[in-house]
Amino acid sequence: MKIIVGNWKMNGDNEDKEILLKALKNLRTKNEVVVCLPFTLIYGNNHGITIGAQDISEHDNGAYTGDISGQMLKDADVKYVIVGHSERRLYHNETNTIVKTKAMAAIKNGIVPIICIGETSEEKNTGRTNSVVKKMLLESIPGQGEYIVAYEPRWAIGSGKTPTEDEIKAVFETIHKALHNIGRDDVALLYGGSVNGKNAKQIMNIPHVDGVLVGGASLKSDTFLPIIKSID
Ligand code: PGA
Repeated sequence: MKIIVGNWKMNGDNEDKEILLKALKNLRTKNEVVVCLPFTLIYGNNHGITIGAQDISEHDNGAYTGDISGQMLKDADVKYVIVGHSERRLYHNETNTIVKTKAMAAIKNGIVPIICIGETSEEKNTGRTNSVVKKMLLESIPGQGEYIVAYEPRWAIGSGKTPTEDEIKAVFETIHKALHNIGRDDVALLYGGSVNGKNAKQIMNIPHVDGVLVGGASLKSDTFLPIIKSID
């Protein structure tokens, strides 16, 4: 089974949610489809679609104004949470250590963290993709529990640019090996960054790619559904 995760980021309203989730409900797929909504849209009628969040606090509860805890997400029936998305790392200074703590908070509450890693264009252009990704991976993953890893090159997010098949293959090989070496062959690996209905199938056929993380194209059914259908 493949995993297709939509990340709405800070977009959409109740009407958009209603339209997309209803369209997903009518779609027959053997794969797992998850929509990671903004916090305000998580409650309400989700039409049986698996819902994810886009961030989680490291803490269980207390004086952390504006934060949302794993307990709260659990209470809202959230199954997955994105942690360490490059936009959180960039705009909220989230380090690998913070990402790891957030992943642990999710696992503790029975939520599967989707841990994001990926190199900048500068790191790519200086030939450091594999070493950067491996370091981010090993410093961001918890020692135990169920989690997913999403490889998202920062320069590919929202840019319409994607790495070549060979480049994706090499990075997934690196991630797979690093996880294998610590006995974690069970971890699902996603690719993210400018996934669309035209490139999804090709990306999914690359060894060790178990699914995709989709930003912009997950907002509307006419761009999200073709991705899901192409993978089925
Ligand atoms: P994109 O975003 O599909 O719009 O490139 C992916 C992501 O940020 O997860």
